[in-house]
Amino acid sequence: MANVQEFLNTIENRRTIYNLKPELPEGITVEDIKETVQRITKNGPSAFNSQPNRALILTGTTHKKVWDSVVNAMPTDNAKMRPKACRDEAYGSVIFFVEEKATQKLQSDFAAFAEVFPACAQQSSGAVQIESWAAVEALGLGCNLQHYNPLVRAALPQDVPTSWTVHSQLIFGVKNGEAGAKEFNENPVKIYN
Ligand SMILES: Cc1cc2nc3c(=O)[nH]c(=O)nc-3n(C[C@H](O)[C@H](O)[C@H](O)COP(=O)(O)O)c2cc1C
Repeated sequence: MANVQEFLNTIENRRTIYNLKPELPEGITVEDIKETVQRITKNGPSAFNSQPNRALILTGTTHKKVWDSVVNAMPTDNAKMRPKACRDEAYGSVIFFVEEKATQKLQSDFAAFAEVFPACAQQSSGAVQIESWAAVEALGLGCNLQHYNPLVRAALPQDVPTSWTVHSQLIFGVKNGEAGAKEFNENPVKIYN
């Protein structure tokens, strides 16, 4: 059990942090974030090892441009608040994708299971997203997870393959506040012998 404590602490320490500064912690570079996400994306489990996960990192003017376009698409001042914070208070965003060709190949190779493969890709993506979230926070950053998927997709650089669908955005920066209080439901894991 001793060996797993650090892993469990990393999982418990992953929280939603909305208050961010557009900086990186001392000693951390965007290359460190890239390597972290790269290794998680590479090793993520997937249906029949189809490896549908893709990711890229936006910083600098590209991050600002993408989030500015989301702000501009929002209909009310209230709706603009979150994407504005992503644009102005975060250092960058990790965009998580699924390569749809991987799902299509599974559907063609294993036609009997065709209808479950889109959900399998979502689950595989979710695992990679949340592992990345926990790991980037373990690097000393704060993060929150957003889902402005079609608007982000429309504003991405032109060379991102059209067969990649956007599943989420992990917004990161230096923490400028703590996570909110969190209540936990009773959800005991039972053992049946
Ligand atoms: C699948 C999923 C979707 C989420 N979508 C959003 C989102 O669109 N915007 C947001 O601010 N937080 C989003 N969250 C974050 C949750 O609100 C947050 O994880 C939850 O309130 C628990 O807080 P914690 O992250 O601090 O543990 C999402 C989380 C998950 C797992």
